[in-house]
Amino acid sequence: MSDKKYKLRSQEWFGGNDKMGFVHRSWMRNQGYPDDYFEGKPVIGICNTWSELTPCNGHLREVAEVVKRGIVEAGGFPLEFPVMSLGETIMRPTTMLFRNLASMDTEESIRANPLDGIVLLTGCDKTTPSTVMGACSVDLPTIVVPGGPMLNGRFRGGTIGSGSFNWVIKEKHKKGEFTSEDFKEAEACAARSIGHCNTMGTASTMATMCEALGLTLPGFSSIPAADSRKKVFQQMSGRRIVDMVKEDLTLSKVLTRKAFENAIVTNAAVGGSTNLIIHLIAIARRIGVDLKLEDFDSVGSKIPLLVNLMPSGKYLMEDFYYAGGLPVVMKELGDLLHQDIITVNGKTFKENYAKAECYNDEVIAKIDKPLQEHAGIAVLKGNLCENGAVIKPSAATKRLMNHTGRAVVFESMEDYHARIDNPDLDIDENCVIVLKGVGPKGYPGMPEVGNVDLPEKLILKGVKDMVRISDGRMSGTAYGTVVLHVSPESNVGGTLAVVQDGDTITLDVENRLLQLNITDEELAKRKANWKAPEPKATRGYVRIYLDHVEGADVGADLDVLVGGSGSVVEGDNH
Ligand code: FES
Repeated sequence: MSDKKYKLRSQEWFGGNDKMGFVHRSWMRNQGYPDDYFEGKPVIGICNTWSELTPCNGHLREVAEVVKRGIVEAGGFPLEFPVMSLGETIMRPTTMLFRNLASMDTEESIRANPLDGIVLLTGCDKTTPSTVMGACSVDLPTIVVPGGPMLNGRFRGGTIGSGSFNWVIKEKHKKGEFTSEDFKEAEACAARSIGHCNTMGTASTMATMCEALGLTLPGFSSIPAADSRKKVFQQMSGRRIVDMVKEDLTLSKVLTRKAFENAIVTNAAVGGSTNLIIHLIAIARRIGVDLKLEDFDSVGSKIPLLVNLMPSGKYLMEDFYYAGGLPVVMKELGDLLHQDIITVNGKTFKENYAKAECYNDEVIAKIDKPLQEHAGIAVLKGNLCENGAVIKPSAATKRLMNHTGRAVVFESMEDYHARIDNPDLDIDENCVIVLKGVGPKGYPGMPEVGNVDLPEKLILKGVKDMVRISDGRMSGTAYGTVVLHVSPESNVGGTLAVVQDGDTITLDVENRLLQLNITDEELAKRKANWKAPEPKATRGYVRIYLDHVEGADVGADLDVLVGGSGSVVEGDNH
């Protein structure tokens, strides 16, 4: 039916003058669409991660309506659909267990339906990478609409940063300085508007990542969810996706190797979450870009920290936006970013960010006067992490960056909880806390527990930080000298599995070393005697996950999901 120059995938469903055309159109018409909606308008799927169980995304139904406005204005046909939503603060045992499941939901929902272009409505941590991963495996024109951060939390005259404040009150509570009444008051003050965490935690990191990859309109990622200017960008995104369909600007044309390098550089400059590493590698492998763990060090570790946001710094996303937001960072980074690559608005980085202006250099520093010289993620190697491990130096304690200490080993999270606060535990501030069993297969699902609390008796002594090593992740709002993502993980027999109490471990960040100080012979002997733990599930999705999940060093995707199936689907449904 369409006489346009561009080819619409949706016309394979809606364009036929036969029984199938009738079936595809007729049932859709019960929602009241006129004839011309089926006659060559680009059909735009609004992939919505709204859920009342994902409070950070609770406003996305309204966002979808604003996006629809833009789509209709530009001559498109919007159709909203739900996908699995992952609420970070609620789901057990961890949302990361379900990231790949949600990505499958997204991929198959897009592939199976008559869609020409996609708008991804995202917010809470995993709702961004899961939907981007799924969309990459289909590779249609796609634009991301980030839900936006909450307004600054305000509590008794001070500021509360989502997540970061949790660690503060936990310590205060342990010292008896925070009552249950204080908790109630602080809870209400911390989350006082729609939106996701207001620190540069994982959600803000993921939104920033999308903008740095070129997947959002420029300047979109930093705007608070409650700000009416967010709506303008939502509407403009709706308009733009229709043009992207006409231009056939698919994800693979935007997501080049250079785009991924820009995301790594930007993440370092904003002091973003270590979770970016796993998600970015997983996204790259879906779209067919060769991105390795080592790239985060070689591309990003020398990048200066420009943004003074919690958890690395002092301010919150609302302050960041008022200071000029991500566009200022992009402009400051200049040629440290690939300037020539195309983004979803059809323009290059250089064109998009040339006019950015900084309104508060306490929040966004100049490149020649950074907050830290080298802020990127360091990738460690050594016999304790043959496939690598990561540390975020900007969140760590300087004096612990080169440290050898006695290992105090916890075999699992349960073991940790049972013993960490035992007054008889043989541990001091120079020890290294080792936690096993929290990698992708452990737990299972690689929870954000790597920054485990210090023993109560040391907190009461005033100890603020210790070296902690695990195969788990760390919340983007957390901080400390925490070595994460140790690969291979302990549950598949990596060296971590055979560390024993009393061993010594050396962390030398400058030389990128993580070393268990035992002989090769002793290590081989321990590994030969190691027995794999029983899998924690015998059925259902978790069993599929356990059978197929890969290591953190390659993105912790399911092996069967790496790559894509494209947008062509053979066979009709009747
Ligand atoms: Fe949803 Fe932090 S809990 S973004």
